[in-house]
Amino acid sequence: MFRDVSSCNTYNYGDALYWDARYMQEQGGAFDWYQRYSSLRPFVRKFVPTSSRVLMVGCGNALMSEDMVKDGYEDIMNIDISSVAIETMRRKYEYIPQLKYMQMDVRDMSFFPDESFGNVIDKGMALHMFPILHTKFLTSILS
Ligand SMILES: C[S@@+](CC[C@H](N)C(=O)[O-])C[C@H]1O[C@@H](n2cnc3c(N)ncnc32)[C@H](O)[C@@H]1O
Repeated sequence: MFRDVSSCNTYNYGDALYWDARYMQEQGGAFDWYQRYSSLRPFVRKFVPTSSRVLMVGCGNALMSEDMVKDGYEDIMNIDISSVAIETMRRKYEYIPQLKYMQMDVRDMSFFPDESFGNVIDKGMALHMFPILHTKFLTSILS
């Protein structure tokens, strides 16, 4: 899927309004940043048991969680700061009980009691929340 990144800079990646606008523009499409589940599967299967209750932070509109359920994962709570992404995904996957979606800022997860999850997966969220990390990442892959 082609993605127009001309309006992106590293300064608004931490802003919910930026992501809302972006997901609105994508009109229900799906996009996995960096890698699809098929590439990450060896690592995920090694460290995350299929019976684990998984927290997927900054899920966006990626297919990652859907693909994990197809691969046997039983319980994935997906959170994202973008209410647009969460509403879209909730509607899209209402027929898959293993997938749950909640709008939430990862910086305040007091909603969940301690020990709620066996594993947490972050694919590309922290990198974008902290511009310095993102700049260093881009520099390292481009040099
Ligand atoms: C680069 S995208 C990655 C999306 C998805 N994980 C993937 O691999 O395609 C970063 C995601 O993190 C979300 N995000 C940014 N800041 C967040 C925060 N403070 N709390 C929760 N989600 C956040 C954005 O809305 C966006 O969906």
